[in-house]
Amino acid sequence: MTILPKKLPPSILALLLQLTAVALVVLTLRQFSLHPAPLAFALLCGTLAAVLSRIAGIARWWLFIQFAFAPALVLMLALDIPPGFFLAIFLVMLVVYWSTFRTQVPLYLSSRKVWQALETLLPAEQPFTFVDLGSGIGGVLTHLADSRPCGRYHGIEVAPLPFLWSWLRIRFGGYPHCSVRRGSLWDCDLSQYDVVFAYLSPVPMDALWNKARREMRPGSLFISNTFAVHNQPPHESVTVDDLHRSTLYSWRM
Ligand SMILES: C[S@@+](CC[C@H](N)C(=O)[O-])C[C@H]1O[C@@H](n2cnc3c(N)ncnc32)[C@H](O)[C@@H]1O
Repeated sequence: MTILPKKLPPSILALLLQLTAVALVVLTLRQFSLHPAPLAFALLCGTLAAVLSRIAGIARWWLFIQFAFAPALVLMLALDIPPGFFLAIFLVMLVVYWSTFRTQVPLYLSSRKVWQALETLLPAEQPFTFVDLGSGIGGVLTHLADSRPCGRYHGIEVAPLPFLWSWLRIRFGGYPHCSVRRGSLWDCDLSQYDVVFAYLSPVPMDALWNKARREMRPGSLFISNTFAVHNQPPHESVTVDDLHRSTLYSWRM
């Protein structure tokens, strides 16, 4: 059963449910003039937040986070760690993950075996253009530029630190046929590319498919690592013998 709007990103929904749980616990305790210890108070809040999250239909793996959040906060405060430490961790997470709370596409890297399988899907011999949508730290681009030098490789990455890392890697690694820019993949004109590659998450795949259908040229190739598209069987799929048994799904437009 879902009682809150589905459109809210899960992290925002989770935060709202935490705040609701705290407010309800505070009001109830006041009502009965109770003053529990901080950890007991946090456990009450966590339990209620988990129950509310279950009712709201949030994914099950959030329930533990919802339960543990307030108690973990109390325990960490008891350790008396300087606040600057948490600020520093927050800032590092911010530049690495940036808008993941909204996009629901975090940074994780495709394996070397995926890069090698990708090589076999690229056009043989003739020059071609390739884009990695959400190019992370640029591993796909630099590997392919080394192994298939007849291509022109472009990346688009929204998160600042991965973008900077890939830019430096390309700039100082000697990759004249590679470029990366900072921005959103949704602003990228896919009609410029012969091959479009994405390794994202299940969340944006349907919208990305619609964008690819609208913009990609007939005969060009759309490849998704791991994440398929609903009701769109791929023209080819290649399963890779890596840790995650990744599958490359490809569609000829
Ligand atoms: C799973 S990683 C894949 C990295 C790389 N393509 C690879 O295969 O190793 C997805 C990347 O997409 C980026 N990303 C997520 N949403 C994006 C968006 N709307 N525009 C551009 N990049 C995005 C994330 O910051 C992350 O670096």
